[in-house]
Amino acid sequence: MGKIGILSGGGDCPGLNAVIRAAVKRCANEGVECLGVLDGWKGMIEGLSMPLDVVNTRDIAVTGGTILGSSRTNPYKDPGDVDKVVNNFKKMDLEGLIAIGGDDTLGAAAKLNKDRDLNVIGVPKTIDNDLPATDVTFGFDTAVNIVMEAIDRIRTTAMSHHRVLVVEAMGRKSGWIAAEAGLAAGADVVLVPERRIDIDAVCETLKKHRAEGRNYNIVVVSEGSQLVPGDYTTQTGEIDEFGNIRLGGIANVIADLIERHTDYETRTVILGHLQRGGAPTAFDRVLATRYGYYAADLALKGEYGKMVALRGSKIVSADLEEAAGELKTVNDEFLKVIDDMLS
Ligand code: F6P
Repeated sequence: MGKIGILSGGGDCPGLNAVIRAAVKRCANEGVECLGVLDGWKGMIEGLSMPLDVVNTRDIAVTGGTILGSSRTNPYKDPGDVDKVVNNFKKMDLEGLIAIGGDDTLGAAAKLNKDRDLNVIGVPKTIDNDLPATDVTFGFDTAVNIVMEAIDRIRTTAMSHHRVLVVEAMGRKSGWIAAEAGLAAGADVVLVPERRIDIDAVCETLKKHRAEGRNYNIVVVSEGSQLVPGDYTTQTGEIDEFGNIRLGGIANVIADLIERHTDYETRTVILGHLQRGGAPTAFDRVLATRYGYYAADLALKGEYGKMVALRGSKIVSADLEEAAGELKTVNDEFLKVIDDMLS
């Protein structure tokens, strides 16, 4: 049997190293060698790799980031790159490739499997938790805990100065991080990309809470939230190879409007990449390990064109193409809980 390649693509995410460690260990237990492909699809295009074994992956499961590096390189962007991927797959003596990524990385993996019959298995990853094929992606729990802890810390300053603090969380099209962290930390208002921001309603809620005796407010906003549908607030206008805009800064827009509408002193905190950094939580370490273990299992059985997924409490295999389906957004049921609890 040839080697099993492993790559991590897209934004890094706490738990990536735990997936890598588990897949390497599972393969090694069956006498199968693994090879690390560097920097996502870029490594497959350029033939960049590193050896992976039980010794050099020992202890990595507790660390954040990815020892393989990552990129947002799209193998379908430049004509000819797909051929390079296929050639390097052969040159690296790969039997199969485990691609760990979000909708973009796994979408490319599904295409390569379909168009070029490449032996690929997907592992769903994103702090945004927006992949449709799985109930939970690893990294999400860590991100939610980071945001919750940040809000808990910000609260003391908000209270001392009787300010409104607007906290911006990541989440391009799905507001799961803001929704769960805002609920967990008892924010006044949670704003998500799933519905248009109604600034009058936001200010009414803040005023109501002040009238009830709260002398400060916390607003949590996802970076992808919009005042006018489709009009995103961006940092630079930069667009990546998969067509994603670089978001950021909606908190400042909201803070300005709140201050003008209420006269409450308002500050913003944009958490940015803090949410993706550092060690994964126990939940993410375990989920990532289970994903890596089962992905290796699928590779050992030669079941390609599949991805691992969490359904309820079970790890199952799903069609890789499902990863590129419609994103999983915050559902009405969860939005209602937020509305009722935070009103
Ligand atoms: O896709 C995960 C994510 O963290 C999004 O929430 C965020 O919009 C994006 O990545 C940021 O990407 P980058 O690190 O490339 O700026």
